[in-house]
Amino acid sequence: MFLSETAPISMSNSDSVAPQALASTSLFLADEAATQALAQQLSAIFSDYFSNSYENNPDENKSARVYLKGDLGAGKTTFVRHFLKVMGVQGRIKSPTYTLLETYNLSSLYLYHFDFYRFTDTDEWLDAGFRENLGENAIVFIEWAEKAGPGLPLPDLELYLIYESAGRTAQFNAFSEKGKTWITQLIHRGTPTSEK
Ligand SMILES: Nc1ncnc2c1ncn2[C@@H]1O[C@H](COP(=O)(O)OP(=O)(O)OP(=O)(O)O)[C@@H](O)[C@H]1O
Ligand SMILES: [Mg+2]
Repeated sequence: MFLSETAPISMSNSDSVAPQALASTSLFLADEAATQALAQQLSAIFSDYFSNSYENNPDENKSARVYLKGDLGAGKTTFVRHFLKVMGVQGRIKSPTYTLLETYNLSSLYLYHFDFYRFTDTDEWLDAGFRENLGENAIVFIEWAEKAGPGLPLPDLELYLIYESAGRTAQFNAFSEKGKTWITQLIHRGTPTSEK
């Protein structure tokens, strides 16, 4: 169950002035099944957003940017894998740890899964030409976005996965109005497998 909306927190990256989150919420993920349930909830919200928002807001650029934070092995790739599976991607889903980017075509939109872990310079994402992927009609997941430095635009949502006993705490922070709406929707939906 989500702990309802919590006090907004600052995003800790290399910015000298950390931006303030517009909304935050967190929940405990006891095991990978709970992570899977959360990925399913977010994919349902995104599917709804991408199918409806054009009619409602014809000028709006349909995009969703989610930056995944957390220590090595916290579950960032696992979350994206479950998200992709529920979106219909079949077969083995590779981690972009070595390739930096894995691209998926989800019928009407693209999904870009980045991993910036191997970057040693904060401008490497620009040199690699990744900026053009960020403004597209696409879902963008970035692991280790903090390696890119302050030139990277803020995400709509940040998902921070934190080790807690045998499971994880998931903290969502919103940095756009869209992201804030999605957090509200997540709170209203709850997560089926996290309720005993
Ligand atoms: N809620 C959870 N509780 C316990 N274990 C989990 C949970 N979610 C995922 N895991 C496990 O934690 C591991 C996460 O590995 P994963 O590769 O997804 O981490 P990562 O954050 O992408 O790491 P990296 O920074 O190296 O890319 C997997 O073994 C997965 O089964
Ligand atoms: Mg990973």
